[in-house]
Amino acid sequence: MSLSLVHQTQWQVPALSQARPARSQHCCLTQPLAGLTFRSVAALITPNRRAKHSPSGANSFSASPLQRNSPSNSPSNLSSALSARDPSNSALFSTTSRSRITMGAQKVLVTGAGGRTGKLVYEKLKERTGEFVARGVVRSEEKKAALGGGDEVYVADITNPSSLSKAVDGIDAMVILTSAVPVPGPPAPGEQRPTFSFAEGGRPEQVDWEGQKNQIDAAKAAGVKQIVVVGSMGGTDVNHPLNKLGNGNILVFKRKAEQYLIDSGVPYTIIRAGGLLDKEGGKRELVVSKDDALLKTTTRAVPRADVAEVAIQALLNDSAKNKAFDLASKDEGEGEPTKDFASLFSATTGGM
Ligand SMILES: NC(=O)c1ccc[n+]([C@@H]2O[C@H](COP(=O)([O-])OP(=O)(O)OC[C@H]3O[C@@H](n4cnc5c(N)ncnc54)[C@H](OP(=O)(O)O)[C@@H]3O)[C@@H](O)[C@H]2O)c1
Repeated sequence: MSLSLVHQTQWQVPALSQARPARSQHCCLTQPLAGLTFRSVAALITPNRRAKHSPSGANSFSASPLQRNSPSNSPSNLSSALSARDPSNSALFSTTSRSRITMGAQKVLVTGAGGRTGKLVYEKLKERTGEFVARGVVRSEEKKAALGGGDEVYVADITNPSSLSKAVDGIDAMVILTSAVPVPGPPAPGEQRPTFSFAEGGRPEQVDWEGQKNQIDAAKAAGVKQIVVVGSMGGTDVNHPLNKLGNGNILVFKRKAEQYLIDSGVPYTIIRAGGLLDKEGGKRELVVSKDDALLKTTTRAVPRADVAEVAIQALLNDSAKNKAFDLASKDEGEGEPTKDFASLFSATTGGM
């Protein structure tokens, strides 16, 4: 999307000349002068939120609200979550290895496959030929061509349910990576920041609610075994700045669709990412939590490549099913890069 953001850390709002087609590949933290930042807005909403890292902070497994709110909040579960980071705990590892699913190649449809995270998921799936057969949904022939133009890439509009029917036929799982895209416009008189709007037919209510509902319905009718959705942190706060963009209430509609998915009865994995970074994946320790607790810490961002990997690992691990969680990462060099995804998912819970 044309808006890169890092929750409560810094949102990079593209300069008007960087309108949507010219997507920046730069991380919002490394390109501070390319556009206006949203730091001031974040500060207005949550002054002094730059909490320090703490061994007992929400960014650690041990004390995150995820564990505190867990329906199975037993001491043994807490110690499992803690020891998930300690490969020496063989008991935990034997448990998590049992939860790994063994199956043939899954046919997986990625929607929003022309988007930045969606493309990464699609390409990763294509690389893993023994495990997956990848399909993608894009919105235009141009995006299809950019993905190689093969028959496994379908052109469809998620706001038009009938356009999805061929793409979902015969799939085992779906990964939803569509999102409404706020478009920057001229600043209001006396303001410096651009205003935002959504294209006709592309408002969050249409894309993130109705469009996601259409996808869930189509996938369910096709008999999928799992739907993975990548959403966004911040949704517990109706006054979050993202909800104000173009008066779109984007996080409200994303959460509405997430609840619809949970209620659908289809096994689900809902990944609510922090601010997305265009950085290399596999280099960071990933952190899971819930209820936007991470937004009160400095652990609020995550590389798109890591989000893509988590989405794929969710398809391979039983412990990711019927789970909804926030996802961020520690800074590179801090902690150990996450490799044991079964343990990561085991530290998450179901329900909103
Ligand atoms: N940006 C951040 O910092 C941030 C932070 C946390 C969470 N997130 C969430 O993470 C997810 C991935 O973000 P991203 O920045 O990688 O996404 P993105 O690049 O904006 O991709 C969104 C995709 O949705 C597609 N789309 C929109 N409307 C559609 C429609 N009616 N029919 C079919 N496809 C449609 C777009 O198609 P086109 O390519 O044709 O436009 C685009 O490919 C999103 O849900 C986003 O809200 C983002």
